[in-house]
Amino acid sequence: MKILVTGGAGYIGSHTCALLIENGFSIVVADSLINSSINAINGVKKIAGKDFPFYKTDLRDEASLEKIFAAFEIDCIIHFAGLKAVGESVEKPVMYYENNLISTLNLCKCMKKYGVSKVIFSSSATVYKSDNPMPLTENASLGACNPYGWSKFMCEQILYDASVAEKDFSVVSLRYFNPVGAHPSGLIGEEPNGIPNNLMPFIAQTARGIHSEVKVFGNDYETPDGTGVRDYIHVMDLAKGHQLAIDFAQKNTGFETFNLGTGSGVSVLEMIKAFETANTLKLPYSIAPRRAGDIAISYANPEKAQKILGFKAEKTVEEMCRDTWNFQNITSKTQS
Ligand code: NAD
Ligand code: UFG
Repeated sequence: MKILVTGGAGYIGSHTCALLIENGFSIVVADSLINSSINAINGVKKIAGKDFPFYKTDLRDEASLEKIFAAFEIDCIIHFAGLKAVGESVEKPVMYYENNLISTLNLCKCMKKYGVSKVIFSSSATVYKSDNPMPLTENASLGACNPYGWSKFMCEQILYDASVAEKDFSVVSLRYFNPVGAHPSGLIGEEPNGIPNNLMPFIAQTARGIHSEVKVFGNDYETPDGTGVRDYIHVMDLAKGHQLAIDFAQKNTGFETFNLGTGSGVSVLEMIKAFETANTLKLPYSIAPRRAGDIAISYANPEKAQKILGFKAEKTVEEMCRDTWNFQNITSKTQS
């Protein structure tokens, strides 16, 4: 089975590529490398012990994208490609809408033209309104609070409408919670450009000495220890969710959404302590003001994915911390 992986050089995409190849899928990757590098592709090839076609292509360029559809008999697409920094999306909304929407529209056009009917879409827990009761089910009310979140919301709407119009389309929208961790080999992991916005890469870089301390954004939330609570999911568990979504897309048509999370919330302070314990080190941290736009708690009700896809996140917080640090250590050695 041939899978086109857009954004396959990125964090979640590269881990999913590694898993797909390991499980016998044939892949083609298209990525503009705007937020990634060829290192990730080389890392996947090393893990897989196999070569695969890689196209440095911007999905906004319809003609270039079409060449890939013309060159391969694609059975299914996993559409990871997109810009994802919440803060940047507030500063550059037009760039975010243009990138994320045009890419998705071009993909839909190529799918129709080349008779490809299955797509797995990278959505996000940010499509849920912030005032929903926890845990979040797929029926929770939708609405975003930044352009990035709205772009995901709009892409879901585009894909839903396409699935209504094209009766053979099968769209599976996966709403990720907080992906962390790295491939156990340490050959691929999360390598954000610039200073990381997200907690886990910031923790890892602080442990490596790149930053002097972790700033804990607020300790006065209505949570057990006052710090923000999130549903962290190991990226290899997330990768597995994509393979199960491909199975589902093969047997069903229409549009379906699934939460991919563990169902458990972990606070910022708990994550710092877990990282210290798992890796026997000390992390300097201090309490800082709340970050604008953050909510106190977000975690998934993962029952629908478990019941319908057979998905269950299995890796522990300890494994998330160990694999993150393992990757960070290997990266630092190869860079020095
Ligand atoms: P990432 O930035 O590491 O990967 C995205 C990849 O898409 C990058 O390699 C980038 O170069 C590529 N890309 C962006 N625009 C492109 C374009 N126009 N044409 C071709 N390639 C393009 O991010 P990630 O964490 O791996 O996220 C993958 C997807 O999952 C994204 O769509 C993101 O919005 C979504 N998501 C991520 C998170 C998270 O916390 N990491 C949470 C929810 C949803
Ligand atoms: N945090 C800190 N210090 C930091 C970074 C984060 O205390 O340096 C805190 C935040 O305040 C929050 C928690 O750690 O309480 C997690 O923050 P992240 O930035 O790691 O993740 P978010 O939940 O804010 O958002 C992430 C992605 C979004 C995605 C969302 C849901 O950045 O793109 O998860 O999937 F949509």
